Amino acid sequence: MKLLVTGGAGFMGSNFIHYWLAHHPEDCIVNLDALTYAGNLENLMGLDQARYQFIQGNICDAKVVHQAMEGIDMVVHFAAETHVDRSINHSLVFIMTNAVGTQTLLEEVRKRGTQIKRFHHISTDEVFGSLALNDEKKFNEQTPYDPRSPYSASKAASDHLCRSYYHTHGLPITISNSSNNYGSPYHFPEKFIPLLIIRALHDEPLPIYGDGKHVRDWIHVEDHCRGVEAILERGRSGETYCLGGNSERANLEVAKTILQTLGKPESLIQFVEDRKGHDLRYAVDFSKAKQELGWEPRHSFEDGIKQTIEWYKSHAEWWKPLLEKAKL
Ligand SMILES: NC(=O)c1ccc[n+]([C@@H]2O[C@H](COP(=O)([O-])OP(=O)(O)OC[C@H]3O[C@@H](n4cnc5c(N)ncnc54)[C@H](O)[C@@H]3O)[C@@H](O)[C@H]2O)c1
Repeated sequence: MKLLVTGGAGFMGSNFIHYWLAHHPEDCIVNLDALTYAGNLENLMGLDQARYQFIQGNICDAKVVHQAMEGIDMVVHFAAETHVDRSINHSLVFIMTNAVGTQTLLEEVRKRGTQIKRFHHISTDEVFGSLALNDEKKFNEQTPYDPRSPYSASKAASDHLCRSYYHTHGLPITISNSSNNYGSPYHFPEKFIPLLIIRALHDEPLPIYGDGKHVRDWIHVEDHCRGVEAILERGRSGETYCLGGNSERANLEVAKTILQTLGKPESLIQFVEDRKGHDLRYAVDFSKAKQELGWEPRHSFEDGIKQTIEWYKSHAEWWKPLLEKAKL
């Protein structure tokens, strides 16, 4: 089997490539990535070059996409602009990559008739909007879309495009909406958990938006890789699967855990002006994936965060060169 992975030089895509090649020794992967500020070829070191090919290119470029899909059996689509804070003031590139880029890939799949056996689209729980704090309610596959940032609106557009190509053209589409990924290796230093770890390691203030009560449902990136694998192997075409980490944590709690683990004082916590339109809470009900695919997360947040902190402590050579790029 030959897979095309888009965005494979980013955090989740690179983890997926390592995971897939390690668990599927017969398979080959082509990685199509534009190498934006978030893409890093260092994330792909040590791969078996006989089974891995890299193409630098933009998913909005129909010619490059055409070349990249030559001989491909399945597409796993990670490429996206992903940072909510950047989307607030620079939304156009989000629309281009996330919506137009997805449409460009879908068109190429459509033109290839029955060649592509599956197009799996990686999406986010943020398309569902925001939940109330201290509530039992979680997002699931039936939750109506209510995106509230330019990032989540562009991801919602890409989800709708995928479904439209399933209904209109009968393309073999699956979608996963997952909660916030974390874990090591390779989480870009602009994102919440690596940012806090690196700040704490430097004894610098840890910026926390608003009152720090905003809740995210953290899923370990390896559990996410296993979830996507389960969908590719056992998921049904036309279906959406929600993947969650069973680990709801308030941002302030995460900051305190990081400081405690590193033996640093809580006085490093610095509350800063809240993000515009900041969603209060995300939480994902993954019972459909559990029942249909036999998937559930295996990593506890307690172990996962410790392992992540250890990785950042011992891999400064990976993240130090990225700090300038990580500035907004
Ligand atoms: N990180 C999360 O917590 C999370 C949660 C749920 C869903 N997702 C989704 O998972 C996917 C991967 O997220 P991530 O955190 O690994 O992102 P990332 O920002 O670390 O990586 C994105 C990758 O896409 C590439 N890319 C960007 N624009 C491109 C373009 N036009 N053409 C080709 N390549 C391009 C970048 O170079 C980079 O390598 C995204 O679709 C994101 O929306 C992320």
